[in-house]
Amino acid sequence: MKTVPFAFDLNEPDFIPSEYDNHIQRRLSAMRGQYLDKEAYEARLAQGDDLLYEVYELRRPTVPGELLHGISIVHPGKVGDEYHMTKGHFHEVLETGEIYHCLKGKGFMVMETPEGEWAVEPLYPGRVLCVLPRWAHRSVNASLAEDLVTFFVYPGDAGHDYGTIEAQGFRKLVVEKNGQPEIVDNPRWSPPEAA
Ligand code: F6R
Ligand code: ZN
Repeated sequence: MKTVPFAFDLNEPDFIPSEYDNHIQRRLSAMRGQYLDKEAYEARLAQGDDLLYEVYELRRPTVPGELLHGISIVHPGKVGDEYHMTKGHFHEVLETGEIYHCLKGKGFMVMETPEGEWAVEPLYPGRVLCVLPRWAHRSVNASLAEDLVTFFVYPGDAGHDYGTIEAQGFRKLVVEKNGQPEIVDNPRWSPPEAA
């Protein structure tokens, strides 16, 4: 880890950082239970454990005051009607936000609060998105041809809570209908008081 200010390049066309400390690869098998169409999921997994998304992290100490940052790349494709997406999470320290800057592709950030408020924001090159504290977030690649690439930065002490989202998914899903992305209700989701 660096002890003096540092810089790195995000080279086109892929935007893989010229330096990074950690490379996370999430495959289809890591997304069990996340896609609504379980039959389509199992059928695809039987064909192979495809790489769905990758994260290149620049490591910093996980303490307040530090800024964790890196690149997230969601590869194109679908499971059933649902586009490839990240697992999504709340930050463990709920009162921490995150900034995303879209560098490439076309997609959405699906967000929700523990109280059930939701928001879905389009992502396209040049777009900067502010995920407010308390909002869980998941990136969805709505292109079937191109990677969705975002730069992210968030507080060092934020941490990740994946379990809450794993239980019933996000309130909204992004699916392809007639060749276009559509935001639909997740039938698995129920309001917090009934959950
Ligand atoms: C960090 C953050 C991103 C995501 C990345 C992968 O707080 O939001 O770096 O970690 O886009 O998504 P997940 O972590 O949901 O698998
Ligand atoms: Zn996050």
